[in-house]
Order: sequence, then C-alpha cells, then structure tokens
Amino acid sequence: MWNLLCDGYGIRLTAYGSPLTADSGQPTADSGQRTADNGQRFPDSGQLTAVPGQRFPDSGQRTAVAGQRFPDTPKFPIFAQNHTMSTALKDVKRITTHILQQMKEDGEKIAMITAYDFSMARIYDDAGVDIILVGDSASNVMAGHETTLPITLDQMIYHAQSVVRGVSRALVVVDIPFGYYQSNPTKALESSIRIMKESGGHGVKLEGGTEVKEAVEKIINSGIPVMGHLGLMPQSIYKYGTYSVRAREEEEADKLIADAQVLQEAGCFALVLEKIPASLAEKVSKELHIPVIGIGAGGGCDGQVLVSHDLLGITKDFHPRFLRRYLNLYDTVKTAVGQYVGDVKSGDFPNENEQY
Ligand code: KIV
Repeated sequence: MWNLLCDGYGIRLTAYGSPLTADSGQPTADSGQRTADNGQRFPDSGQLTAVPGQRFPDSGQRTAVAGQRFPDTPKFPIFAQNHTMSTALKDVKRITTHILQQMKEDGEKIAMITAYDFSMARIYDDAGVDIILVGDSASNVMAGHETTLPITLDQMIYHAQSVVRGVSRALVVVDIPFGYYQSNPTKALESSIRIMKESGGHGVKLEGGTEVKEAVEKIINSGIPVMGHLGLMPQSIYKYGTYSVRAREEEEADKLIADAQVLQEAGCFALVLEKIPASLAEKVSKELHIPVIGIGAGGGCDGQVLVSHDLLGITKDFHPRFLRRYLNLYDTVKTAVGQYVGDVKSGDFPNENEQY
C-alpha cells in the first residue's frame, strides 16, 4: 500500500529505503554527464559578474575585479562535440511555443525538467533543456508536503520568479496549483494573469480534460499559453487513492484520448501525459498535432519530463520504474557536508590559506 501511494508525483515521503535502482545501461554518476567527450567542461554561463577577490569557477585564481564577467564559452556549440547529448539541439536564443511545435514537426525530441529556484534553473538552462516547468511538485520536493495539494499560488509565484531570473533560453511553464482554477474559468484566468505578471513565466499548466475546457479557452483567449496534463493527475490523488498507472482500462483510455483532443481544440500548445501505458501515449502523440511530453509514458511521446530532484538523485526513497537517475546527489552532498562538518570539528577548516 505504501509503495502504491508513493509511486507518483504527490506522496513522496516514503518508506522505500532501498538503494538506487538504475535501469540497465543507464549512465551512472560522473559517466560523462558533466564533461563533453573531449573532456571539455560544460560552458559557464557568463551571466554572473564577479566581486573583487572572487575565484573564477574552478580556476583557483583570486584575480577577479568588481563587475568582471566569469570566463565565457559559447553556450551551445559544445553540444555538437558532446555525443552523449541531443544530436539536434535547436540553436535558438529563446524557445517559444512555435519552436516546440516546429520540433514536433521535425521529429526533434523535447527535453523538459522541473526547477524551483534560480541557481538550479540556471544550470538546467545552460545544459540545453527546452522547457523548464515550475511544477507544483515543489510542494513535495521543496516544501516536504506529502501531496501537491497544499502549495499556494503565492508560493508558486515565488518559485517561478526565482526560476525566471535564472533562465535565458528555455520556455518557463508554471503549474497553476490546486484550488486556483477548478472552481470557475474566471478564477483560472485571474490565477494565470497573476502568474504571468508577477513571475515573468511564459505559460501555465493545469490538470484535467473536458472539465477544464472553458478555463483553458478563457486563459488562452487572454493571450496566455496553456499546457495540459492528463493521465495521472497528482492534484486528484484523493480521488484515485493510488499513484498507480492510469488508463489501463479501455474506458479510461478512451476518455483520455477524447480529453487530449478537447485540450488541443481548446488551444493548448502542448500536453503532458503522466504514467500511462506507452502504447496509449504513443497513439495520442501520433493523433495530436501539438507536442506531447511524457513522464512514465514511454518513448513514443514527442518529449520527456522528469522532476529534477529525482533525476539528480536528491530524492532518496522514490524509485518508480520510469525514473532514470543520472546522479546520486543525496549521497554526494551528504558525503561532502559530512567532510565539512568533520573539518570544522577537527579545526582543519579553515587553514591559513582560507583566512584573511
Ligand atoms: O509538478 C510537476 O512536477 C509535474 C510534472 C510531474 C510533470 O507536473
């Protein structure tokens, strides 16, 4: 029971306790993810300016003067040298909904990830992610709630503001949290306007099909791009009672296909499908002309999304089958901070070179 409840995006404070379960053949930590094939490090963003005496990243030099930019390398050409990365990354300054549509038509897969703060969003953007979702999974991974339901609109806007400040290329989509769009289309529009005005995000996402059609239309009519979300919808977890795979049965699958069409007709620029059979997701991706982004929905979608904390191994006890972990940051950070604690306790830190 506990496992069922935990295998999805809502209840994540679990009692799994089992070690990292990598899919066979997946890259392991430090397997080339952080360096290009030729050993070249990923480019620094060039966005931060140094303060006097600040070290340049990795250089050990204390030569920066006020306002000096960190060493710049071109942002995207490196991907041509890094064969572990996308082979056809769109070399564009800013991803728009039109570019995503073009990517679908060209057969170029779309890479999407969640972010909740400035620093991580800047890294993901520099890594070439196409869409950054300020997901209401912030309720789980940032705030420690069991479900996505408690997070407020103000809290989502705070996260989105921070993310937007770190992003220069990706399209930033912000989840409208539970309770801020379901009651009526006007409330949905007002929530969306607050998100767009106060965060600077580029679009909103909401969960549901036919039942949110009018809300979607009203938001889009005001000029705000909307991404839909079907399949496992974590805001409805108390209706489902479980985070297990959705739409296995014909009736639910048929409703999902109909809802996907409704969302496309209402004007959604893209659709997330969460935790449904791969064959169903592939069928929907083929039938729709808008991009379909999957999470636990197989390789037939037009793109993939993962929760960043899962992909990086910050979350420890969350092992759904669909998740590929690229790092085990929980253990890496724990070890590093443990060393720091040891160094402080022993008096080893700071040494004479680390003081004034
Ligand atoms: O909130 C979230 O992180 C999401 C993704 C799981 C798609 O909606």
